Amino acid sequence: MIFESHAHYDDEAFDEDRETLLDSMQVHGVERVINVCAEVQNWDRTLNLTEKYPFIYGAVGVHPDDVGSLTEDGIQKMRELCQMEKVVAVGEIGLDYYWDKEQHTSQVFWFERQMEVAREEKLPIIVHSREAAQDTLETMKRVNAGEIGGVIHCFSYGKEMAREYLNMGFSIGVGGVVTFKNARKLKEVVEYAPLESLLLETDCPYLAPVPYRGKRNCSLYIPYVVQEIARIKGVSEEKVMEVTRENGYRVFSKTR
Ligand code: NI
Repeated sequence: MIFESHAHYDDEAFDEDRETLLDSMQVHGVERVINVCAEVQNWDRTLNLTEKYPFIYGAVGVHPDDVGSLTEDGIQKMRELCQMEKVVAVGEIGLDYYWDKEQHTSQVFWFERQMEVAREEKLPIIVHSREAAQDTLETMKRVNAGEIGGVIHCFSYGKEMAREYLNMGFSIGVGGVVTFKNARKLKEVVEYAPLESLLLETDCPYLAPVPYRGKRNCSLYIPYVVQEIARIKGVSEEKVMEVTRENGYRVFSKTR
């Protein structure tokens, strides 16, 4: 059974067939899905999904691209939502210097602020970090994020960075990118990191694995990611699914 640690089923890309698709998840071996929020104005959509589907859980947070819309009222609301039974993490939060939509100082400020909420509410964090390796690491070290725990989702850095996060006790989220031929760096990280520190994810509707690269992604394609991780690590696909599933329940303990 598969533990999908990062999906966006509230995205409009699923408007046409969301219900049919989600109804088919469990028979195809998807046991848990964490639907991750990115913007304050969409939090309700994730909460609706968690109410409708027993196997879907939620993470609340504001993506670095959208922190301009975040206020202290938003932080207060987030804190309240964190206490709901099916809200299991704070995310996705972090730094994105690739799209660079918000000032770096503002991104760092709200990243720290949201990590504080996670600490107070005793929830793990789901970190988004793109082209911001050094600042992400420094910010996380400054607040002792190792005490909070969680995952660096869609990991895009090299082995040296992976070592830093593993030393802090963080897991590494691996999705469709690992199946791309040119993903040498990520394949090295997967080889290097213990299986006990990996989480499966899609980031759907984005980043579909080969042979669906460029198409709409969904959790039903995770077996292609499993296949590639199994090949890299020289273990069976069953083992990859079993261990990452256990990892998911350990990191996101409210999903048990
Ligand atoms: Ni995402």
